[in-house]
Amino acid sequence: PLKAMLAGTAAIVAAQPALAQQNELRDWALDMFSPVPATVPALEDNIVTPEKVELGKALFFDPRMSASGVFSCNSCHNVGTGGDDNMPTSIGHGWQKGPRNSPTVFNAVFNEAQFWDGRADDLAEQAKGPVQAGVEMANTPENVLATLNSMPQYVEWFEESFPAEDDPVTFDNFAKAIEAFEATLITPSRFDAWLNGVDTALDEQEVAGLEAFLEAGCASCHNGVNLGGNGYYPFGLVERPGAEILPEGDKGRYAVTETAADEYVFRASPLRNIAVTAPYFHSGNVWDLRTAVDIMASSQLGADLSDEDIDAITAFLGSLTGEVPEITYPILPAETAETPRPTG
Ligand code: HEM
Ligand code: HEM
Repeated sequence: PLKAMLAGTAAIVAAQPALAQQNELRDWALDMFSPVPATVPALEDNIVTPEKVELGKALFFDPRMSASGVFSCNSCHNVGTGGDDNMPTSIGHGWQKGPRNSPTVFNAVFNEAQFWDGRADDLAEQAKGPVQAGVEMANTPENVLATLNSMPQYVEWFEESFPAEDDPVTFDNFAKAIEAFEATLITPSRFDAWLNGVDTALDEQEVAGLEAFLEAGCASCHNGVNLGGNGYYPFGLVERPGAEILPEGDKGRYAVTETAADEYVFRASPLRNIAVTAPYFHSGNVWDLRTAVDIMASSQLGADLSDEDIDAITAFLGSLTGEVPEITYPILPAETAETPRPTG
């Protein structure tokens, strides 16, 4: 026992410098990143209530919000598979292939801009897009409202969710309810525990990977709560990746601003849950996270990282896989004779 005690003491002594280093690294990390908060974040102009969250969840899972009656938000943002669809680019209305990879809805509330090119300001504005997009749900706001109004249960839920309003079944409120549900989709991870002071939450390789991520300069673009999702940069800043990764036809933010400087500019992707949301990049043609890290190092930093560093960064990114809140599948309101029939 004495030997064991001495060995234990030696281990503690040996661990001291490492501990000091971890604290230094944590200070650096806290300058660049913030942990996911413990509670659902407040939204602008949209009070999150349990009624609204439940309504938003029903809408999120209801395929009748699409013209065909086939696609719900959950089709492309499956909450059981990382909040995305694990396809290179999404399949929508009429089996059409969309132009871009579907990003995860998990933690999307922390993104300062939505979409690969940031063309929506917030989740409520965002939620109106896919419903109307021809390649996604191909519906119209009028038809969504007709669908909702045809089901008394929905009308009641809107009344309970927006109690101060005379006419609560509106397309704006449809979007606000979905936004409230999405705000609950936040996933604290081991990295957050580590940021909050739990040294043992990351293993040695992950800590080394975090250090390499910071030292290489990844965090100059991937920072904040989501390690990304808050700024725009040319994809191929230093070295243009191949056309299968950066197809010529999609000029990114240029479509939003029509400024030449924004050609091939994309949002630095949020990196939470990245290990479970392959394939990667807006074109969705890279299936392996390590390869994606390697591409970023050369395309964005012109850095020739060692295999060891790339492995460590990849391991660190794995520590961003979070705990998904329990989501019970909603039983949706029954349709009536007035419910618009599926088309297309
Ligand atoms: C983007 C939510 C339906 C495919 C997004 C984003 C959110 C979202 C929050 C932005 C995430 C980010 O920027 O990080 C929703 C909601 C839906 C819905 C609430 C239902 C009303 C769909 C459907 C599809 C789809 C049905 C597939 C057919 C995509 C794609 C993007 C996207 C491809 C990226 C688009 C781009 O950046 O240009 N969605 N989504 N979504 N969603 Fe959806
Ligand atoms: C995308 C990691 C450095 C800007 C990504 C993705 C990963 C990643 C894994 C794919 C995300 C997804 O598909 O959802 C890294 C690592 C870096 C690094 C490990 C350091 C070695 C940078 C830097 C910048 C940057 C320095 C800015 C100059 C971007 C942009 C995208 C992206 C714009 C989106 C690309 C697209 O349109 O598909 N990053 N990144 N990254 N990153 Fe980085």
